[in-house]
Amino acid sequence: MLYSIMINQGLETIARQELTERFNDTGHLKILDRKPQRLLFQYTGNPRDLLSLRTAEHLFLVLKQMRKMTRSRSSLAALSGPLSRFNFKEAFDCCRQVGINIRKRTSFRVTSRLSGKRNFRRRDLQQVVERAFLDRGWYLAKSNSALDVWAEVHGDDGYISIKLSKNDMAQRPYKQAHIPASLKPTIAYSMARLSRPHPEDVFLDAMCGAGTILLERALMGRYRYLIGGDIFAEALDATRTNFGRQHQPRQFFHWDARTLPLQPNTVDKIVCNLPFGETIGNLPQLTNLYRQSLREYERVLKSRGRMVLLTSQRALFESELKQRRTLKVAQRLTVDVRGMRAWIYVIRFA
Ligand SMILES: C[S@@+](CC[C@H](N)C(=O)[O-])C[C@H]1O[C@@H](n2cnc3c(N)ncnc32)[C@H](O)[C@@H]1O
Repeated sequence: MLYSIMINQGLETIARQELTERFNDTGHLKILDRKPQRLLFQYTGNPRDLLSLRTAEHLFLVLKQMRKMTRSRSSLAALSGPLSRFNFKEAFDCCRQVGINIRKRTSFRVTSRLSGKRNFRRRDLQQVVERAFLDRGWYLAKSNSALDVWAEVHGDDGYISIKLSKNDMAQRPYKQAHIPASLKPTIAYSMARLSRPHPEDVFLDAMCGAGTILLERALMGRYRYLIGGDIFAEALDATRTNFGRQHQPRQFFHWDARTLPLQPNTVDKIVCNLPFGETIGNLPQLTNLYRQSLREYERVLKSRGRMVLLTSQRALFESELKQRRTLKVAQRLTVDVRGMRAWIYVIRFA
């Protein structure tokens, strides 16, 4: 069967690595294509396994992929036409495997998405696909429909898919307490992954907010010690709530990351989502925070350690990093964070 996962913009490579690492050995997986915010692949195992992917926002079963979508309305018919003859047996088996209950009279709804210049509108795409399913005797249900059908046209590609994941695929059960500007777990997972987790890691997030990065690291496998801290007591309360009694050993501190109460050369990995400046609106204050915290990170990091830092303040961050001559950027990724352009830096000693 052909599947696709939808991914946060900028995390496509990491999603591909995760998919390969998790399923390549099984011989069930063949990755076919990588597109912006999407990976397409064949998988012959149980689709339920795919729901545990930690980089994916949504999982789809692709019914029809059309590679030559043009501007013209006629390409709409080429996309939807084959649906009237489509044999749904395997697709329905696949839906049942992830717990979607298919009744004799199938209810459905269509979500449509469109990008690029076209001679048709999103609504036209939706209607043409709805018509194809109505002609099969299915019925439209705006709420509680059995099938959530997605019709999408991006660039030269068109897709008709069934969404197999629920809306909470990218959410995590641990996230009970929230703070403003809390990081998406898929991004936190990707950052923890970029730190190259090792069972002997002393792992630090010195501005941990609700603890998303620390929790994603904890769930990735063994570590020696987790250390989190934040200047706001409410954020630390959220971290403690989200951790509960699980994931030992760990310690949380109410601190200022500009003066860390840690010995030099003691931390293996520092992974941190730096404030973007929404709450610290004043540039001199933000500059001071970046300067002092980078100095502290450099001090506590072991010589073979790694840092993975996220910021939307590229110019400020890079100019501050230049002042720290021993630190070197090993990798930089551009990602979308809450609709904003941001960068993940992987840093090590030069
Ligand atoms: C962008 S948020 C981090 C969100 C976190 N990754 C999450 O998923 O919840 C930045 C955090 O830095 C904290 N912070 C700001 N200035 C700080 C400082 N000087 N020392 C420690 N923490 C600080 C804020 O309280 C906030 O929780």
